[in-house]
Amino acid sequence: MEKLIIDTDPGVDDAEAILMAAAHPNATVAALLAVGGNVGLEHTVRNSLAIVEVIEQDVPVYAGCDKPLVIFQEDAAFVHGQDGLGDVGYVPQTRQAEAEHAALALLRMANEAPGEYTLVAIGPLTNVAVALKLDPTLPEKLKRFVVMGGAVTSQGNTSNVSAEFNIYHDPEAAHVVFEAWENYGGLIELIDWEATMRHGIPEEVIQRWHALDTPRSRFYKDISAKTMEFIRKFMGRTMMFGADPLAMAVALEPDIVTKAEVRHVSVELTGMYTRGQTTTDWGQRNGRTPNCNIILEVDSDRFFALMEQGLK
Ligand code: RIB
Ligand code: CA
Repeated sequence: MEKLIIDTDPGVDDAEAILMAAAHPNATVAALLAVGGNVGLEHTVRNSLAIVEVIEQDVPVYAGCDKPLVIFQEDAAFVHGQDGLGDVGYVPQTRQAEAEHAALALLRMANEAPGEYTLVAIGPLTNVAVALKLDPTLPEKLKRFVVMGGAVTSQGNTSNVSAEFNIYHDPEAAHVVFEAWENYGGLIELIDWEATMRHGIPEEVIQRWHALDTPRSRFYKDISAKTMEFIRKFMGRTMMFGADPLAMAVALEPDIVTKAEVRHVSVELTGMYTRGQTTTDWGQRNGRTPNCNIILEVDSDRFFALMEQGLK
């Protein structure tokens, strides 16, 4: 049984990932830690609460950090909608966020049950970095740490061509996190943007999901319409990219991975086109302790099946 703590900036693909996790028979969603990223914290908290109502499970939502540690960075409302869930008006009806800060909740849960929780970070790493500064032993208290972030050969998706959004939004936080796992000697299970692009979701699969016509598939269809339109305009084709669902699929079923490489990854903090870059020591030349198991390929059929399970 995977006991999941999900650090998230919903976000359309975050929502898809959470639906996938909530529907998996061998996983429980123990908490959602909201962070500012795709849209501001006020929206990501409200969206987390709305998603909890859609999955109809009693999952606590904790509000975390609104802004990056040092420099404010662009959001991704142009992809996810101004409200972060496609601007279709999904708002929580009854649920409220907990009073405890997300970083403190993460530390409390990890200390209450050392080695039991899998932390899945699918937004900027600000909350995790703050938790690490409060308790540098956090890495040894987690069962696993799965991260959606980075671009391991610098093919990014932001205005800074070499950087992926979650890292670029808060590079200092990412640096703190990646260095902490290097010092601990553990491996971050890293699902990057390039792997996301290699596992794009084709139109016929999306149409099949829309045809399910269940409350969750209608929720998915509604919130993803703007994102699909953006992809259609930007890339000239009808498909979806499930960055966060791909990371969640690895968290839920690690044996879905068919190819991975262990390497040292560091986060660049400076440079016109390098700030936020995840520099990967492919040649194993820097002599530093590898800190990432870089997920390169997964079984796509199983990936799509896990997403579909979340929409039924
Ligand atoms: O680059 C993709 C990541 O940025 C995903 O987590 C998406 O939700 C956005 O946060
Ligand atoms: Ca996200």
